[in-house]
Amino acid sequence: MPPDEGDGKLTISGLQEGRKFWGGGDMIEAKGLTKKFADFTAVNQLDLLVAEGEVLAILGPNGAGKTTTVRMLGSILKPTAGYAKVAGFDTVREAAEVRRIIGLLTEFPGLYTRMQGMEYLDFFGELQGLPKTIRLERIEKLLKQFQLWEVREKRLGEYSKGMKQKLTLTRAMLHDPQVLFLDEPTSTMDPQSAKLVRDAILELRHEKRTIIICTHNLAEAELLADRIAIIRQGEIIAEGTPAALKQQLLGDAVMELRLARPLNGELHNIVDLVEVIEYGETWLRYRTPQPDVVNPTLLQLLAEQKLPVITLSEVTRSLEDVYLKIIAHGRPENGGLL
Ligand SMILES: Nc1ncnc2c1ncn2[C@@H]1O[C@H](COP(=O)(O)OP(=O)(O)OP(=O)(O)O)[C@@H](O)[C@H]1O
Ligand SMILES: [Mg+2]
Repeated sequence: MPPDEGDGKLTISGLQEGRKFWGGGDMIEAKGLTKKFADFTAVNQLDLLVAEGEVLAILGPNGAGKTTTVRMLGSILKPTAGYAKVAGFDTVREAAEVRRIIGLLTEFPGLYTRMQGMEYLDFFGELQGLPKTIRLERIEKLLKQFQLWEVREKRLGEYSKGMKQKLTLTRAMLHDPQVLFLDEPTSTMDPQSAKLVRDAILELRHEKRTIIICTHNLAEAELLADRIAIIRQGEIIAEGTPAALKQQLLGDAVMELRLARPLNGELHNIVDLVEVIEYGETWLRYRTPQPDVVNPTLLQLLAEQKLPVITLSEVTRSLEDVYLKIIAHGRPENGGLL
């Protein structure tokens, strides 16, 4: 199918059609997905649904099965059991269609060390069927976006780790894919390059692309993902939005109140209203399931008591707290996370 340039924004007809005809719902579906290497089970009966336009971050310790999962979803590794579909295409029986729709960034990709950066992208762009003018335009845009334009004529053998990773990401994005699988996309990058990549991912998210990102950077996961899945020993042990996981694992929100003068006898009035968990002379922390109801009531009480408030804020709880708790304790007893 011939590519077109439409309203000035690069589009590729095949993909546009894919988007047009895709009926919505789950763009990625895996059921009972399993991978064994000899007797060792790397991925065990994994069920996964990712909606169109959703960004899912997969977290988990080294060796948990993240890369193996992404390789199966990306049609480069055959499952031992179960199946996966991308845009309705089976990753084994319809691998060519899946590869056309997706962009895949894997760990340690084999790079052609004697090729120059530009030449490498041109080669892959041609393999993907992109016509020359569109290909060159797209390559130039991406190389400039990831600050690789200056080194486009350097041989890949001379690229640094981070430069190689950015080039591989460029390769994954070249055909403007509808679905992206990004396995640790910023792991070797300097902070500024990592930000360029995160911004690019946010832009793709804004464009409603479906993305799975594996990362050990929890702040990155929290910034980019709509939903988090935590894998351990080949199984998903927790899944949900960052907010839901925090609520389930860490309990109700904790608020911190800072006052302009020491508390005198007012504490007992406050304790009647909220569950105080810690306090000092001029501050206190309390837990509440309903900050929207409780906080205004508390502020009104403090005003009546003529207790001047400096700040009332929610204590930030990081995804790291959630992650460490889940990894330490495994699947929660109540099974409520899945
Ligand atoms: N080709 C292979 N042959 C044998 N075992 C493998 C192979 N590929 C992966 N494994 C094993 O499968 C398990 C999962 O590996 P995988 O690379 O998926 O982990 P990961 O979650 O991506 O880890 P990391 O965070 O270190 O990247 C590991 O125990 C690994 O040793
Ligand atoms: Mg990995």
